Amino acid sequence: MTVCDYKPGLEGIPATESAISYVDGQQGILEYRGIRIEDLAQSSTFLESAYLLIWGGLPTKKELEEFEYEIRHHRRLKYRIRDMMKCFPEGGHPMDALQACAAALGLFYSKRDLDDPVYIQQAVVRLLAKIPTMVAAFQLMRKGNDPVTPQDDLGYAANFLYMLNEQEPDPLAARIFDICLTLHAEHTINASTFSAMVTASTLTDPYAVIASAVGTLAGPLHGGANEEVITMLETIGSVENVRPYIDDCIKHKRKIMGFGHRVYKVKDPRAKILQKLAEQLFEKFGGDEYYEIALELEQVVTERLGEKGVYPNVDFYSGLVYRRLGIPTDLFTPVFAIARAAGWLAHWKEQLKENRIFRPTQIYTGSHGQQYIPIYNRPQIWDKASKNGHM
Ligand code: ACO
Repeated sequence: MTVCDYKPGLEGIPATESAISYVDGQQGILEYRGIRIEDLAQSSTFLESAYLLIWGGLPTKKELEEFEYEIRHHRRLKYRIRDMMKCFPEGGHPMDALQACAAALGLFYSKRDLDDPVYIQQAVVRLLAKIPTMVAAFQLMRKGNDPVTPQDDLGYAANFLYMLNEQEPDPLAARIFDICLTLHAEHTINASTFSAMVTASTLTDPYAVIASAVGTLAGPLHGGANEEVITMLETIGSVENVRPYIDDCIKHKRKIMGFGHRVYKVKDPRAKILQKLAEQLFEKFGGDEYYEIALELEQVVTERLGEKGVYPNVDFYSGLVYRRLGIPTDLFTPVFAIARAAGWLAHWKEQLKENRIFRPTQIYTGSHGQQYIPIYNRPQIWDKASKNGHM
């Protein structure tokens, strides 16, 4: 490796070989294990797609039923995890709560045997089953309510909406939410997946792997963008304000949330599906005041930035869908995490097959041969920095 090979953000540098998912950013194609995302959104369920990603093939009817049964029966949280959550400040971000709870699972399931397929299977089931319960429990507890016990006769998506809203969801709402989970389940080596793989490569436990990925997903340049999209639509406020808003962003080099992607240089195929799902929801349950603004935004950004390959990404329309489903804005990213846990676990499992610890190199830009200065002779770098607010 030479200095010329350095790419900020590791753009275009392969970090692994993987057979889990594939993206063609020029043509707007996404496949899970070779199956197009449009087909999975149309015909599969989230748990079937999760199985496909993690175990490498579509399950038989019996295998899927067993997988669903296992997940159904591991949804409940240990009371100590719920007690721990009671101590979280209600003003804290739900992604921080989720990260802490995912890591805490490692305390309860501390026997680690990464060579045992049963251990791997149990970890997959526990994480997929318990993450939605943790997200819903934090939501109710921060409002001062008791968490709702998972309902065994409800499917994965319907049960989450039930635990969140304390009532059984409309079947269309549950199906649409399930498709959203499928769409968000996996996306090659993005920042959070890379984070999961680096953590996994140390052969730590899977709960630490998922906790590390959750922390990475939380940032506004990654999963956090869906929340920022709604804030942006609120700020814009009307269709007439869209052009001046975009002009101002371009003038001041501010990123427009929900647009642009490292890989896609066309409209993200997931954004196309999500837009249709939003329209289905609006048709049945009434429109959303922000949808017209979003449409105008897409048109103006396409006009102004389309030639740079800046188009709506997965986060642009997902927020509008989630709003209609009654999901609070700051739960959008935790909902993303519920889905992406499937992809993270698939990469964890793949990483273990031929593991080598990640240990990249760096290009050192510091100095050499500096003199050690006694403390009473040193310039006051720390004080100056703290006074200027650069800490
Ligand atoms: N708004 C305005 N301009 C943009 C945007 C945007 N959202 N995205 C990219 N551009 C422009 C950049 O200014 C840059 O222009 P330049 O070449 O004239 O400097 C060019 O397009 C390339 O953009 P980069 O920032 O270099 O692209 P990068 O691959 O590093 O970043 C990213 C991708 C982080 C997603 C970026 O597009 C962005 O910040 N988007 C907004 C946040 C967002 O929606 N994130 C969610 C991504 S999807 C996900 O993580 C699930």
